[in-house]
Amino acid sequence: MSRYALELLDIGCTFRAKDAQGQRYTAVAGTTLRIGEGEFVSVVGPTGCGKSTLLNVGAGLLEPSSGTVKIFGQPLAGINSRAGYMFQTEALMPWRSALANVMVGLQYRGVSDDEARAQAEQWLSRVGLRGFGDRYPHQLSGGMRKRTALAQVLALDPDIILMDEPFSALDVQTRQLMENEVLELWADKKKAVLFITHDLDEAIAMSDRVVVLSAGPATHPIGEFAIDLPRPRDVAEVRTHPRFVELHTQIWNVLRDEVLKGYAQQLQKAA
Ligand SMILES: Nc1ncnc2c1ncn2[C@@H]1O[C@H](COP(=O)(O)OP(=O)(O)OP(=O)(O)O)[C@@H](O)[C@H]1O
Ligand SMILES: [Mg+2]
Repeated sequence: MSRYALELLDIGCTFRAKDAQGQRYTAVAGTTLRIGEGEFVSVVGPTGCGKSTLLNVGAGLLEPSSGTVKIFGQPLAGINSRAGYMFQTEALMPWRSALANVMVGLQYRGVSDDEARAQAEQWLSRVGLRGFGDRYPHQLSGGMRKRTALAQVLALDPDIILMDEPFSALDVQTRQLMENEVLELWADKKKAVLFITHDLDEAIAMSDRVVVLSAGPATHPIGEFAIDLPRPRDVAEVRTHPRFVELHTQIWNVLRDEVLKGYAQQLQKAA
């Protein structure tokens, strides 16, 4: 068996623009990314560079224009059923209660209603939402909705967890609480995690490895850093660690120019 849970090998993604005739946009080119079993890897890069695109490729939601995806050494065809996916945007079903939202994936898998309910209740408790199962998404705070989405993913016990800026909409305190909770849950089960974020501090605090992507078009990795900070970590405290500061400086040196390029491109697009 492969020691990699997820391999993106020489991935390219080209989109055809809908408005202009035949115009194509190469978002991602020549990108190779490997996530070991039980490894927590963050990918940082400027806005619009292709992070969500890469995650969609890993999830099997988007077929790359070139390259191969392997899951535990096997080529991926169709949806990646070994992965759980936490989206950048809200993904709860508004017409279902929190409990029913967590249950739905289990029910799709053929788990009986009673068993799905029991497991979903357990997961809601684990993410700090005991007693909130009957609330509908609009009756929950943003942080609670994210917790529900986390329970939804973890309930399926995926071998690979894909997270696309899951906490970027939260206030700093809630965010740090949730980051710590994710680290605790991860330490317990050691799944392979691919974590996408804008936030370099978050990436360093959480990960075993941080991969920096270039600005688009033709985004590709331009740096890779092993995060040799001790675990368990508290995401707030670890930021004062001298090694954290050192790593932050090193990675920011690579990321800064790409962020500026990405920002200039966004302005150009908006003009
Ligand atoms: N289906 C599509 N059709 C056309 N262009 C697309 C499509 N999906 C993504 N793109 C383009 O590919 C580029 C990368 O998009 P992507 O959503 O992966 O960026 P991102 O790094 O996740 O950005 P953000 O940090 O803002 O979430 C963008 O320029 C986007 O406009
Ligand atoms: Mg994105």
